[in-house]
Amino acid sequence: MPKLKRIGVLTGGGDAPGLNAVIRAVVKSGVNHGIEVIGLEDSFDGLIEPNRSRVLTAKDVTGILRRGGTILGTVNRGDPFAYPIDTSDGKQDYSERVVDMFHRMGLDALVVIGGDGTLAIANKFAKMGIPLVGVPKTIDNDIVGTTNTFGFDTAVSFATDAIDRLHTTAEAHRRVMVVEVMGRYAGWIALYAGVGGGADSILIPEIPYDITKVAQQIRDRDAWGAYFSIIVVAEGAKPRGGRTSLIQHAGVGRAERLGGAGHSIAAALEELTGKESRTVVLGHLQRGGSPTSFDRVLATRFGGKAVELLLNGEFNRMVAFAPPDISSVPIDDVVGKQRLVPTDFDLVQTARSIGVSFGD
Ligand code: F6P
Repeated sequence: MPKLKRIGVLTGGGDAPGLNAVIRAVVKSGVNHGIEVIGLEDSFDGLIEPNRSRVLTAKDVTGILRRGGTILGTVNRGDPFAYPIDTSDGKQDYSERVVDMFHRMGLDALVVIGGDGTLAIANKFAKMGIPLVGVPKTIDNDIVGTTNTFGFDTAVSFATDAIDRLHTTAEAHRRVMVVEVMGRYAGWIALYAGVGGGADSILIPEIPYDITKVAQQIRDRDAWGAYFSIIVVAEGAKPRGGRTSLIQHAGVGRAERLGGAGHSIAAALEELTGKESRTVVLGHLQRGGSPTSFDRVLATRFGGKAVELLLNGEFNRMVAFAPPDISSVPIDDVVGKQRLVPTDFDLVQTARSIGVSFGD
């Protein structure tokens, strides 16, 4: 195995708190092993256009551990295999160009930090001969092969705090408060923030809901003297026999945009219960701000492990959290799948046993 001299690092897809912490760990650990680390800007665009990359030294990453976002920038529609990107020489499929640029830049390997979409792109490049390691990122926590992605804990902490705040105003006005959180296909954020914040109903994509059951629970609470209710809804929650609420269909190299679930649930509950209902959509607030200490530590462990795998010549793997250890899995085993909340998961059972409704 020839010695690694120069590696590239990039961040792709929607941002998540902890991206900078991973970059910092990759740079610090790489530099300490005598490797030069090149930061590639805006996901794979950094391997398409010249001058979209820069050397990252330890000084460049000092102070970024606690910063949200990514110092490298990110895009969530930059698939060089699918999306024609404007460049100086016209539009084309840029995958060959990425491979060419990788070699011309003298890179020996890549660290690709991203969610399912970015890891799927990485997997294709791995098959075209680019040695790389993936780092799983998404606040939704829905990547298979790892118990946690970084960013999830920060999103849950923020959403829990928001639910706490909504409790007092809901109680004061005897209202129904519907809190919509992120989670396209998986209800991890809704489940953890819902339980952590003491929600009365938690509606997740994995358990299609019957709105009359949610309304009944609100009436039941009224009957025993709790005149307010908190309903936590994942953006991807859908009624039984119905569909997820979309605000934009998928396009070339672009995923569909979800939205509206919280508002339609609040309107239906107001109609069914006669109680004033309000909706709060937490949206991108969940992706912003400083990562929690858990996410900083996880991101640092992921970054360190990514460099370790590269040094050992263990390519085309994704670092993973298998508590209490950091391990790795083949990227091929991960892409194109989603880690959903199992309906018999113990936290779902526990929530049910303390009276939380899943609307089923
Ligand atoms: O995948 C993470 C996520 O936060 C989803 O829950 C959400 O639907 C999506 O990103 C929104 O991304 P954007 O608005 O950046 O396209």
